[in-house]
Amino acid sequence: MRIAPARRLKGSIRLPGDKSISHRAALIAALAQGESNLANFSPSRDCASTLSCLAQLGVRIERNGNEVRVQGVGIGGLSAPTEALDCGNSGSTMRMLAGVLAGHNFSATLTGDESLSSRPMRRIIEPLEMMGAAFECEQGYPPLRIKGHQPLNPISYELPVASAQVKTCLLLAGLHAEGRTEVVERLGATRDHTERLLRWFGIGAPAGNDASVSACAVEGPARSAGRDVSIPGDFSSAAFLIAAAALLPASELVVEGLGLNPTRTQLLDVLLSLGANIETTETQEVCNELRGTLRIKGMESGDSTADSKITGGTPVPHSQVTIDGQLSAALIDELPLVAVIGTRIPGGVVIRDAKELRFKETDRIAATVANLRAMGAEVAEYEDGLMTNSPVRLHGAKLDSYGDHRIAMAFTVAALLAQGESELIGSECVAVSFPEFFECLESVVER
Ligand code: S3P
Repeated sequence: MRIAPARRLKGSIRLPGDKSISHRAALIAALAQGESNLANFSPSRDCASTLSCLAQLGVRIERNGNEVRVQGVGIGGLSAPTEALDCGNSGSTMRMLAGVLAGHNFSATLTGDESLSSRPMRRIIEPLEMMGAAFECEQGYPPLRIKGHQPLNPISYELPVASAQVKTCLLLAGLHAEGRTEVVERLGATRDHTERLLRWFGIGAPAGNDASVSACAVEGPARSAGRDVSIPGDFSSAAFLIAAAALLPASELVVEGLGLNPTRTQLLDVLLSLGANIETTETQEVCNELRGTLRIKGMESGDSTADSKITGGTPVPHSQVTIDGQLSAALIDELPLVAVIGTRIPGGVVIRDAKELRFKETDRIAATVANLRAMGAEVAEYEDGLMTNSPVRLHGAKLDSYGDHRIAMAFTVAALLAQGESELIGSECVAVSFPEFFECLESVVER
């Protein structure tokens, strides 16, 4: 894919449905009794993996474009699969589905592509074993053979890594337990779509007496009836377009119907702290999730306040933008993009406490550093992050997605900001989360 620099983004777009919410909606609808219609279901390849695994487990699913009708089988009602369940590239599918399979009285094998086969699964194996499931695998990596148990033992579990996938896995397992399963997030609250959707289906339980620590719970066995779900636009997909519009002077981009769950939108705080002009309107809560319209105007060069430590949108005098601690966890999918943004900030950006990036679809720290250096940026690499130096005008270069959708999109944005054309190797992997990314971008880019 050849990518020429852009002058600005102008126009109005709607993003396809949120990937995180779509996985969860399909799984929770499959465990409900009766029909659920899921509107604006994500067209991502990852969510297609979740649907095809559920179909192999005996769930009737009809798909008409982005409308998905699920005939739920009820808690514990899945059938043993006759073949391995292929999760493709999707860590969410494997980790969340493992929680569901743990509560069924049969064995199943979960497999994935080469990237997924090198992603750590001990984080779900250990707590699911405490609940009564049994696993066979090599050193904690896929393929996973899982033998479920009925009923599971409820547990109270403190997450050792800040991971919404692990939290979701345990809450879904907890639906099949006898009693209360609680997940405590002392390392910081991760995205809370599962809790919201469970409440939408009438099966969330109040959790935690300690208001200073985030916690959530379910009371099993948790039966529910099917329910329709309307899924908002995917903020993590929009992030690339929002950042490009904010950084390209004279841009005027409107993003409608976008998911604005506050556990997902920290990038807006980062951009606002840098002086971006972003207005949020028409907010409303639909199916327990906030959505709204964003209007982004490009910063004129010189708008950037730059000397900021990002603290929830409030600029604090500081020589460099620092992303660390709980903010790194909250921005996890946007960090490669934040590194690209860092090349425009006087003083640069430092990202720490982000070792999890090394365990994503590729090692996103290594991939980001290599691509930024190819474009002429000075970057320091740390085990848990990176640092970009003072602003640099990136130049067009040969870039590599490393087969990772978010690296491909972050460096498409870098290529739009650069001087001269870039070539992106492996651009087709954007289909993992956002198949229409390049078409959507072309519809608003002006050169
Ligand atoms: C996701 C959680 C995050 C994120 C991923 C989607 C989810 O992963 O990186 O893209 O939908 O729960 P972790 O749970 O591994 O942090």
